[in-house]
Amino acid sequence: MAFPQSFLDEVIARNDILDVVSSYVHLTKKGGNYFGLCPFHNEKTGSFSVSPDKQIFYCFGCKKGGGVINFIMEEENLSFPDAVRFLAKRAGLEVPEENGDRESSRLRQRVLSLNRDAARFYYEMLHRPEGAAVGEYLERRKISRKVAMDFGLGASLDAWDALITAMTEKGYTKAELLAAGLAVQNSRGRLYDKFRNRLMFPVIDVRGDIVGFGGRVLDKSEPKYMNTPETITYSKRRILYGIHLAKKTKRPNFILCEGNIDVITLHQAGFDNAVASMGTALTTEQTRLLSRYTKELVLCYDNDNAGRTATEKAIDLLNNSEFTVKVLNIPNRMENGKPVKQDVDDFIKNRGAAAFERLLSGSENHIEYQMEAVAAKYDLGDDEQRVAYAEEISALIAGLDNAVEREIYTGRAAEKAGISREALQLEVQRAAKRRLGRERRERQRKEMNPAAALQPQDRTKRYTDIHSAMAEEGVIRLLLLDSGLAASCLQLMPEEFSSPLLGKIYGALLTCYQENRPLQVSSLAGLLESGEMNHLTTILQRPESIANGPQAMADYIAVIQTAFRKRQGLDQDPLLAARDKFKNKKGYGGKQNA
Ligand code: CTP
Ligand code: MN
Repeated sequence: MAFPQSFLDEVIARNDILDVVSSYVHLTKKGGNYFGLCPFHNEKTGSFSVSPDKQIFYCFGCKKGGGVINFIMEEENLSFPDAVRFLAKRAGLEVPEENGDRESSRLRQRVLSLNRDAARFYYEMLHRPEGAAVGEYLERRKISRKVAMDFGLGASLDAWDALITAMTEKGYTKAELLAAGLAVQNSRGRLYDKFRNRLMFPVIDVRGDIVGFGGRVLDKSEPKYMNTPETITYSKRRILYGIHLAKKTKRPNFILCEGNIDVITLHQAGFDNAVASMGTALTTEQTRLLSRYTKELVLCYDNDNAGRTATEKAIDLLNNSEFTVKVLNIPNRMENGKPVKQDVDDFIKNRGAAAFERLLSGSENHIEYQMEAVAAKYDLGDDEQRVAYAEEISALIAGLDNAVEREIYTGRAAEKAGISREALQLEVQRAAKRRLGRERRERQRKEMNPAAALQPQDRTKRYTDIHSAMAEEGVIRLLLLDSGLAASCLQLMPEEFSSPLLGKIYGALLTCYQENRPLQVSSLAGLLESGEMNHLTTILQRPESIANGPQAMADYIAVIQTAFRKRQGLDQDPLLAARDKFKNKKGYGGKQNA
């Protein structure tokens, strides 16, 4: 897949970051930089910046940053090679495709075309006598012809090779049928249809390509659902069922529900903003895709244990994200005086679209959902458990920033548990105090340990030797400010860096220098993952002066190499070692009575 370096450099040179970003974000000049509202998180004042000198963007709010390729990867939700192609096209450059690349892109095209023909075949079968069972099933589930057509629903036949035969006649090969996941091979090498006697759901991506299929049985047999395995076009982590229609919605949010039929029922009832992940919990890839269309998600999972787990997982993933999240609780249905769980599909069919609209507009927010969850843990008829409930619910309410909200929810929680409002209020105040104390201690700890502020946000990138790491950051900043300084650090090896990430960045910059290519952040887009790139742009925000570049470089190098030798145990000066020992005994390191 690798593009020639010279081509990448050309793509970067011909796409000035200021031009590119300006077509997405309204920017205003402040000093040497440009500022605007960050496209990657919700904000009211602009903390998103573009530096034309460094050819980077950086958001002081969400700490995302990178070069022009990273910007397009984030903004257009593209992979690295696709972002490069996108920018090449923008600049009118021809993309040199490698052989392997051309082959895989050819296979991809063939699989997409095969999927389209297969979907057409399943669709036609639905209207033939052989597909009548699926037609009846659709009627039973009250799915209209129009909606079935919008979703391209079809029927796979009760036969071993109906699809294979039809597609082979159209010129598709065995290898292509296997690559699409439409055919399966048995141990004797014979192919048979993967999907048989099922209601077929083509899975359509945002571009309108059919990337795979889901298939549901018509009776109670197992497995209930079968999906396309991972193929060159289908990755379950990346797809959202219904996105091809939902992306055009005029509604302000997206509804995430649990299954294919839920999505279809919701669309049929006028909620054209419904999507579902198929056979997986919500993934980051899916949230990134969603963020192109909405900043508000309504979680609408089943009211059972699996649904609750899915909700909690999604909330975890969406915590601290740019999304506002609401959780919709589908109320139970009463049957013969007993509550019966129901999913969205049942709810709409039993109560109608208007009832769902009411549920949606009163969508319970995050805190209410969490309060429900706490309440569900305790038997509120029992005094001891009521006390425990009061304690836990107070801690939750104390975490709310807004005093009015705290008051409202305290009232509700008190009522629920049959406690007086005043008593619970006291409990909430106490919890708030404890919380403040904890936060203060946390802040003090940070102030006493300023090194903590210099650590990367992402724990996996933590510096083990902060002193050396600060110098390593300095070397990288200097190189990016003045590539002429590279000549003076050729004796410094990437392996001498204490931080593997900084060493990797440094090594890449040296290579650029040795190959006579520009030293710039943008060139590293293919090498660093987005988290690493964010960290690189973060360290570039710290001040660095090139006024005395050569001296600063020499100092940094000395610090790094001394630290390296120390780690290697090469600095075993007996005097120094004795001093260190003495220091530790006296607890000078701040670690008394350790
Ligand atoms: N699913 C899957 N593989 C399975 C079971 C389920 O991929 N073996 C996915 C399907 O996308 C399905 C969703 O998970 O739509 C929800 O599954 P489930 O709750 O079992 O289905 P229901 O929504 O109850 O299905 P239906 O309404 O069709 O009975
Ligand atoms: Mn269902």
